[in-house]
Amino acid sequence: MSNIIIRPNWVLPESAASTQDAYFNRRRFISTLGLGTIGVASVGSLGCIGQTGEAAEAPKGPLDTIPADAPRDGYPAARNSLYKVPERPITDRIAASSYNNFYEFDGNSKEIWHLTDKYDPYPFTIEIGGLVEKPMTLDLSDLIRRFGIEERLYRHRCVEAWSLTVPWEGFPLRNLVELAKPLSKASHLKFVSIARKNEMPGIKKQSWYKWPYYEGLRMDEATNELAFAVTGMYGEPLTKQNGSPIRLALPWKYGYKGPKAFAKIEFVDYEPKTFWNDIAPDEYSFLSNVNPKVPHPRWSQATERFIKDMDTTRRVRTQLFNGYEEFVGDMYPNEPR
Ligand code: MTE
Repeated sequence: MSNIIIRPNWVLPESAASTQDAYFNRRRFISTLGLGTIGVASVGSLGCIGQTGEAAEAPKGPLDTIPADAPRDGYPAARNSLYKVPERPITDRIAASSYNNFYEFDGNSKEIWHLTDKYDPYPFTIEIGGLVEKPMTLDLSDLIRRFGIEERLYRHRCVEAWSLTVPWEGFPLRNLVELAKPLSKASHLKFVSIARKNEMPGIKKQSWYKWPYYEGLRMDEATNELAFAVTGMYGEPLTKQNGSPIRLALPWKYGYKGPKAFAKIEFVDYEPKTFWNDIAPDEYSFLSNVNPKVPHPRWSQATERFIKDMDTTRRVRTQLFNGYEEFVGDMYPNEPR
């Protein structure tokens, strides 16, 4: 193996452990893909939209990465009181903005905000296609004005068994589905993220991945009231590392089901392939509902830890559907209970 992992000097003690994990994960993924050397993978499918990558000022901190031209209409939004997380406090904002997974910037560290300076998401459009009455391209700022935004306090759970409680701002994904007017035979949605290799350093660095990031949902999941298109958090537009300019929050599923910076939604009549499932099918099922009874080969799902707690020994029990059974349980009669 010719790749040498250089540990950056800014990693937190906690993420140093993750760096190690990520290193082994990466080795595993490379071997899953059957690749011996970095750069051997075909990157012909790169969905590069913007290619500017002009020099920008380095961010001074994790909250300094909200794009200056992000639309601010409606922020801070009123919280929707239907969605409560009574058992635990809201995660510290700095922690939620400093401990991230966004492999387009780097899969080897959680602290990626430093790497987002060249990323310039706005203006941003979302392409809607496939089985719809009429394909369309929507400007995100127009969408935010059209739907308005609300705040929802949600649990957010990564398959790596860390979790947060986040006040997201955005609009129900269902609004976007209704606007798209899918044909009756459309059973699933496929989401495709942007992959701007000159703005997102992780894409060139990890060329063995099948960029761009892609995910999928069933129609009933996408139109469930919990499915949320997120444009902001903590009362302001999203930071780049948290998925600016738009991502999904599907709080009953593991975090990887929520693509960041998605620019394309395709309505299809089959279960779409997904980024992580294609890499390691035994680890990342299509449904990927949070469930302590469905074991994962590398991370026990029985318990989780809050990222604010840098004490990694303090763990709490994982809840079925991440505590959202009353909203989503009916959709999954076969889920182990
Ligand atoms: N979306 C894209 N495009 N690229 C990614 O690497 N990581 C996923 C998800 N969405 C990812 C992504 C994973 S594994 C998780 S846990 C969440 O984003 C992390 O969201 P957060 O960094 O805001 O906590």
